[in-house]
Amino acid sequence: MECSMIFLVSNIVLLLSSSALAKTASPPSLSPTPAPAPAPDFVNLTDLLTVAGPFHTFLGLLQSTKVIDTFQNQANNTDEGITIFVPKDSAFSALKKPSLSKLTSDEIKQVILFHALPHFYALADFKNLSQTSSTPTFAGGDYTLNFTDDSGTVRLNSGWSKTKVTSAVHATDPVAVYQVDRVLLPEAIFGTDIPPAPAPAPTPDIAPAADSPTEHSAESRSSSPSSTPDGSSSYKIISYGIWCNLVLATFGVSVLL
Ligand SMILES: *[C@@H]1O[C@H](CO)[C@@H](O)[C@H](O)[C@H]1NC(C)=O
Ligand SMILES: *[C@@H]1O[C@H](CO)[C@@H](O)[C@H](O)[C@H]1NC(C)=O
Ligand SMILES: *[C@@H]1O[C@H](CO)[C@@H](O)[C@H](O)[C@H]1NC(C)=O
Ligand SMILES: *[C@@H]1O[C@H](CO)[C@@H](O)[C@H](O)[C@H]1NC(C)=O
Repeated sequence: MECSMIFLVSNIVLLLSSSALAKTASPPSLSPTPAPAPAPDFVNLTDLLTVAGPFHTFLGLLQSTKVIDTFQNQANNTDEGITIFVPKDSAFSALKKPSLSKLTSDEIKQVILFHALPHFYALADFKNLSQTSSTPTFAGGDYTLNFTDDSGTVRLNSGWSKTKVTSAVHATDPVAVYQVDRVLLPEAIFGTDIPPAPAPAPTPDIAPAADSPTEHSAESRSSSPSSTPDGSSSYKIISYGIWCNLVLATFGVSVLL
C-alpha cells in the first residue's frame, strides 16, 4: 500500500517535471525564417533571347525594326507586362510560302509586333483567353490572334499559321516568353485567301505529356530554404516530452487501478 503510494507520488512528480521540461523547451519554429523579398526583376529581353532558343533570326528582326525597344519598354515600365511568342530559327527557315522576303520594312515590323500581346499571361491564363474570339496583339487593329487551350497545350491560330506553345522560356510577371513552332503570319498582311491546309501528317506526338511546355526559367532553379537545425531539435525535445507524459500517464493510471 505504502509502496504503491510512493510509486504514485513519484509518478506524479515525474509527470509534472516532464511536462515542465516540455514547456521550457523553445517552441518549434514551424515557419522557416522569411526569405528576403525578391528584388523586382528586370528582364533584359536581348539577353534572354540570346541564351535561349536559338532565336537569332527573331532577335535580329527585333533589333533591325527597333521593336526590341518597344517590348523592353513595355516590360520595364508597365503594370500590364508583356507576352511574346518567339519562333525558333528553324521556323523561319521552314517558311516557304508566303515568305517575309517580299514585305516592306513597315510590314516586317508589323509581323514582329504581331508576335506579342500587351499583357502578361501565364500559361494557365490561356484557358480564359480562349473564351475571347480574337485577342489583339501589339500590332493593333486587325492584327488579332485566336487561342485555344487544348488540355494544357496552348494553341495559336493566325489564320495562316496554326501552332502551339512548345516551351516556356520565361513566365514570371511581368514578362512571359513562349517558344512557338511557327512564324505567326497575320491575315492583315497576307489576306484571308488562305490555301487549304495539306492533309495532316501522322502526328508522332501521341503522349500528351510530351506536349506540355517545360519551364526553363532560371528563377525556378533556385534552391528552397533548408530547414534550420535548431527548429528541428527543439521539436524533437517536445515530442519526446509528450511521449514521456503519455507513457507515465498510462503507467500512473495502471497503478491507480
Ligand atoms: C541588355 O543586354 C544587352 C547585351 O548584354 C545590352 O547591350 C543592352 O543594353 C541591355 N539592355 C537593357 C535594356 O538593359
Ligand atoms: C529598362 O530597364 C533597364 C534597367 O533599369 C534600363 O537599363 C533600360 O534602359 C530600360 N529600357 C527601357 C526601354 O525602358
Ligand atoms: C477572363 O477574361 C475576362 C475577359 O475576357 C476578364 O474580364 C476576366 O477577369 C478573366 N478572368 C480571369 C480569372 O482571368
Ligand atoms: C478567330 O475567331 C473568330 C471567332 O470565332 C473568327 O471569326 C475568326 O475567323 C478567327 N480567326 C482566325 C484567324 O482563325
